[in-house]
Formats: sequence, C-alpha cells, structure tokens
Amino acid sequence: MEMESKQELAERLGCHGQEHLLQFWDELDEAGRDLLAKEIASIDFDQLDRLIAGLVRGAVEEPEIPAERVHPIDVVRLPQTDGERTARRRATDAGEEALAAGEVGVVLVAGGSGTRLGFPGPKGTFPIGPVSSASLFQIHAEKLVALGSRYGKQPPLYVMTSPENHDATVEFFERNGRFGLDHVRFFIQGRMPAVDLKTGKILLAARDRLAMSPDGHGGTLAALAGPGDAGCEPSCLAEMGERGVQTLFYFQVDNPMVEIADPTFIGLHRQGQAEMSFKVVEKMTPDEKVGVVVLVDGRPQVIEYSDLPRSLAEKRGEEGQLAYWAGSIAIHAFERSFIERLVGGLRLPFHRAVKKVPYVLPTGETVQPAEPNAVKFEQFIFDALPAAERFVIVETDRAVEFEPLKNAVGPDSPATVHQRMSDLFGGWLEQAGVVVPRRPDGSVPFAIEISPLFALAAHDLRAKVEPGLVVERPLYLR
Ligand code: UTP
Repeated sequence: MEMESKQELAERLGCHGQEHLLQFWDELDEAGRDLLAKEIASIDFDQLDRLIAGLVRGAVEEPEIPAERVHPIDVVRLPQTDGERTARRRATDAGEEALAAGEVGVVLVAGGSGTRLGFPGPKGTFPIGPVSSASLFQIHAEKLVALGSRYGKQPPLYVMTSPENHDATVEFFERNGRFGLDHVRFFIQGRMPAVDLKTGKILLAARDRLAMSPDGHGGTLAALAGPGDAGCEPSCLAEMGERGVQTLFYFQVDNPMVEIADPTFIGLHRQGQAEMSFKVVEKMTPDEKVGVVVLVDGRPQVIEYSDLPRSLAEKRGEEGQLAYWAGSIAIHAFERSFIERLVGGLRLPFHRAVKKVPYVLPTGETVQPAEPNAVKFEQFIFDALPAAERFVIVETDRAVEFEPLKNAVGPDSPATVHQRMSDLFGGWLEQAGVVVPRRPDGSVPFAIEISPLFALAAHDLRAKVEPGLVVERPLYLR
C-alpha cells in the first residue's frame, strides 16, 4: 500500500478533529512517518467519533437501569440434596464424554496490561506458586496436561495476547518447552487508541506513535475469528472447527485456582444446550466489586457493580441473603457456533475506562500523569450473554475456585493468592487423611502447593499420600 502524504493524512484527521497527531511529522524520519501513517490507517475514525461523543464528551455516566426491569436469574446452585448431587454427577459424566471425545477447547485470555500489579512482563509469567514459584502460565498449562492424561485427549489451548505482550508471552512458552502442551496457539487481540479525558484528542505515546491499548477481553471473540499468525493460517475458530472442537472453556490468566475445563460445568452447559454459560459465586456484601448476572426485561445480562442500582444491590431475600448475589468470575463456556454467529454480526458495545496513560507534550517531553488523564475503550466478554439463545448459570465455591491476582499488595495480591491456594491444598490433603495444622481462623500457617500434574482434584490424592502423615513445614507435591 502506498503511504499517504502528509496532506492526505491531514485532511482525513482534520475531519475528525485529530490533526494534532501530525505535529511532529516534519521532524520524523522515513521510518517514523511510515509507522505513524500505519497506525493512523488502522483506526476506524467514524467509530471513534461515536465513542468519543458517547463516552467522553457526552452524558458520561451510563444511564442506570430502572430497578423494576431487573429480576434475579435462575442459577444452578451448589448441590445440597442427594438428588442435586446425582444431577451434578450426570452432568460431570456428560462433560467427561465431551473431553474424551476431544470436543472441548480452552481459551486463555492474557492480553491485559496488568497495570495494577505493576509486574515487568506479561502477567502470566508472574511466579505465583506459593512454594514452587511456578508461573500462572505453568499452573494453567499443567492442568491441561493433566486433563490430557485423565481423558486421553488434551484440549487444545488458545492464548490471547496483545501486541504489547505477544512476543514476550510466546518466548516464555518456548523457553519452557511449551510446558509439555500438545497444542498451543497464540492469537493477538485488537487495539484501540486512548484519548484525552477532557478533550477526546488521541494521545501520542511518542512523536511517531499513538497511545494504543488492548480493546478489552471482549476483543477475544473478534480476535478468535481473525487471521492467524503471519496472516496466513486458518483463524483459531476455523482451526477449532477442523479439529472437531465444539465447546470452548474460557478463563482469564490471573486466577490460578480456576478449574480448567471443569467437566461438571461443561456438562451442565451442554445438557442445557447453552450457547454461553457462566460460573458465579455468591456475592458477600452489597459493595463487593463484582458484576452480577441478572435478567433485564427477561433477558440475561451482567450489570457491573458500579451500574447496579443501590436499591437492588442492597435488596435481601427472606433469609437475609442478597437478592442479586450471582457474581460473575469471568469463567465461561461458549459454543463455537455461537461465537461464529456473533462475529458475523453483532458488535459488542465499548465501555469507558479512565486510566493513567503517559503521553508526549508538543515540546516533545513525555508526561507520566499522576492522576487518570485518559479514556480507554474496552469491550467486555460478558456483553455477549444477551445474544445467547440459551444459557446456564452455575454456582461455584469461591474458596475453591476464585482468587485472582490483580494488585501488588492488599486484596487480590500475591499474599492473598498464596494463602488461598495453601488453604485449598491443605483441605485436599485433609480429605486424604493427612493432618494439616490450622490457625484459629482456619487458614493454614505455611505454604502448601500441589502441582496439577500430581493431583487435579482432592480425590486424586487418596492413592498418593499416606493417611496420618503430619504436615509440619512448607510442602510442594509434584
Ligand atoms: P483486568 O480487567 O483485570 O485487567 O483483566 P488487567 O489488564 O489484567 O489489569 P489492570 O486492570 O491493568 O490492572 C482481566 C483479564 O482479562 C484479560 C487480562 O489479561 C486478564 O486475564 N484482558 C483484559 C485481556 O486479555 N485483554 C484486555 O484488553 C483486557
């Protein structure tokens, strides 16, 4: 493609009030001009104008949904009765059949910037194992390897990266022998420009580069359908079709406790002939920052914690439990056919995220803002739910399955993740007859870790550890 002239670029940008992007043009060398022109060409300015009008200059607060249109959604609750336990076992059988038939694929999204954690490198490379310091990627990969041994077919893994962390992610997997995975493919998500919070002008990250950031985990759907590496392989979706993969298990890189391709969840999703399914945990307080799954005008939808009307957030049932308790933990099952249908038509909405984004001043100096100065535009994966003809919402226990790594310190940090993993594995050992010391609050007093290669679940441990054994110091079983 012929590079556009400064004049042509200026005209196009002028129509959208973004001509400042060329302010350093005359100082740039050929390569710099080429880079900038390519970045400008990659932007859909009509779409961006609409987003700026709606999410930056317009009525910025999304209108609150009137409370009378919102109702609780049906959830498959954790089993309490024998009947419910039997039903779950049947679902597990159905999920195990799908796994053994090779009809399940796994999508791991790892394209986020991980700004809150502030770790240099992709978040998946963070050494999170409480004893082993195994990376998040290693722990996830070992679960897939273990699933392969158990069911005879290892689900193929599709890892979403961003342009910023793609090379480092691929290199990490390669350096570690792909953790023994049979089939792993990486695909890159899309990007959106970040704009100034007050003016809606696109920020320059450097004199020849726009401030671009990943387009949110909702970008997964389009990216799965996009061209493969080097632009010539089949898309991930097409490849899944060729391999006979029908159901996708979706999860996010930051939760090391996720039960990947959980057969019970897959089974419930399939028995319900669902197009998209959710795992939820019980929200503990009205203020807890998780989105809740609800019905709006009879259709399923996730309402973010910040958008849930106060009266609904605080509403309680007869036994004092929250009426809107079904907190989404970003674990999903998708039918491949549903994603194919979506990418052919529907576009997920964009949301605004106000963030600190470094930028260059007209003097050429780079500013590291102390306060949020920019709006990023992001799509959210859960916005696909209203388009699903059928769906299943399944309750899981947060102590078993949810402790994401988000922050460097405080809640959802390495310290809390280590503790929760150790508590979980301590519980597994106890079920196998091992004696594990506990603090008065029930937490275990030192680090315990079990590699997925040693045991994927508590019942795998029984034949492998000696009942009566007493754990007295940090323990790693692999
Ligand atoms: P978060 O919303 O927690 O964002 O992503 P983050 O990038 O990890 O961290 P912060 O907000 O910058 O601190 C939840 C999950 O979604 C993925 C992340 O990699 C993480 O697994 N994600 C997020 C993407 O894959 N792409 C995105 O554009 C955003």
